[in-house]
Amino acid sequence: MKLKTIIITMVSLISLLNITACVYNDAVTLYEEEFIFSPEDIEGYQEWTIIDYSDRPDINQWRTIYINKPEEADRTEGSYPLGTILVKEGRSYSDRTKVVSLQVMAKRGGTFNPLGNYWEWAYTASGDIHALNDYRGDNSLTLNGNTCISCHQGYNDLVVKQYK
Ligand code: HEC
Repeated sequence: MKLKTIIITMVSLISLLNITACVYNDAVTLYEEEFIFSPEDIEGYQEWTIIDYSDRPDINQWRTIYINKPEEADRTEGSYPLGTILVKEGRSYSDRTKVVSLQVMAKRGGTFNPLGNYWEWAYTASGDIHALNDYRGDNSLTLNGNTCISCHQGYNDLVVKQYK
């Protein structure tokens, strides 16, 4: 009787492990390759497709969101393709010639940040794209004390404003 219980427990454990392994494998093989983001990749982003823009006089910003690969964005599947880059640009509301912030999400894939859907987060409080190298990373990256992912959680592939 005792042996039977042990066997049943072992069999259940093994099948549970198998299920976990499958899920894990699926997640890992979602993007087999890795796209190594470099700030130069967003050069000329002002020419990309605009997803959304908003007036934010409350924080003296005019915000525009750009995407580099709109035609490939598979929103029904809920995941953006490898190499997708989203740029949220903030311009001074009072002087729109001035870029005052750049927030970037880049779909790296490979094994980069699987818990953050393989996105890399980057930020600079300037219009200098090269400064994005100084502040970039996985889910531990923060903005004003909150992790980037904290606000983005719950949205399709962590993207708040979807391309429609
Ligand atoms: C306090 C909440 C909050 C935090 C923290 C935050 N975001 Fe966002 N983010 C938003 C909201 C809301 C939007 C939708 C556009 C808007 O309302 O400005 C957005 C939009 C974006 C977009 C455009 C794509 C999309 O999801 O719509 C990018 C890129 C982005 N954020 C990057 C970042 C990065 C990088 C960080 C961290 C350095 C960060 N965000 C931290 C709330 C946040």
